[in-house]
Amino acid sequence: MELYEVMRTTAAIREFTDDPLPDDVLARILDHARFAPSGGNRQGAHLVLVTERATREALAELNKPAVRRYTAQVAAGEVPWNPLHPPGPSPEAIAATEPPAYFLTPLLTAAVVVVVCVDLGAVAATDQHLDRVGLVSGASVYPLAWNLLLAARQEGFGGTFTTMAIAQEPQVKELLGLPEEYAVAAVVPLGKPVRQPTRLRRQPVAEFVTRERYDGPPFDVQPATA
Ligand SMILES: Cc1cc2nc3c(=O)[nH]c(=O)nc-3n(C[C@H](O)[C@H](O)[C@H](O)COP(=O)(O)O)c2cc1C
Repeated sequence: MELYEVMRTTAAIREFTDDPLPDDVLARILDHARFAPSGGNRQGAHLVLVTERATREALAELNKPAVRRYTAQVAAGEVPWNPLHPPGPSPEAIAATEPPAYFLTPLLTAAVVVVVCVDLGAVAATDQHLDRVGLVSGASVYPLAWNLLLAARQEGFGGTFTTMAIAQEPQVKELLGLPEEYAVAAVVPLGKPVRQPTRLRRQPVAEFVTRERYDGPPFDVQPATA
């Protein structure tokens, strides 16, 4: 598949067939994904490939507290898990919210669940002294995670970033035997999609790109044709 086609069609896949993801195909996916950049080329990522039922169930269970809050906040019309705005729903209302299967089932039904981790001793966090949530260290691992999904798409497979279990990171680390200095960046179920969405909904370039300054004119230009 052509690169631009892959970029435009790599959707979040949460429904999988029973088809396996053969190890040699997964090896090809990973062999291409590994060319992702990282700060200072330190390559601090570590991926854990989970197939065992008990581990999948434990990961799904660890999703639940964060999914409860996510779901309660969406129902309240809020941006869920936003660091600038605390949740409106009470802790009791959140605890009473049923976690939708939509968030849990992919971890049980995917051919493999890839837990993407990073050695915090290898990342450069140039935003560490700013009075805001950290972003830059994630850039040393998320390009690899996205490459994984792009390469999976190229091979006829798919998956999605999931992050809900990370709210319970200490338990995830214990479950997988991660060293102390590692963080979990994403939990990515991968498998053969039941269906592949062909049109993704994304805002047009002119909605989020401006010239020179934030309040500069929108970059509203027709893309060159090949
Ligand atoms: C940082 C990040 C965290 C995400 N966390 C979850 C998650 O915990 N569970 C889930 O089902 N999807 C999760 N997603 C997937 C997004 O919902 C999905 O990428 C987005 O809705 C676009 O979907 P589409 O490509 O099918 O249009 C996450 C995506 C990103 C980038």
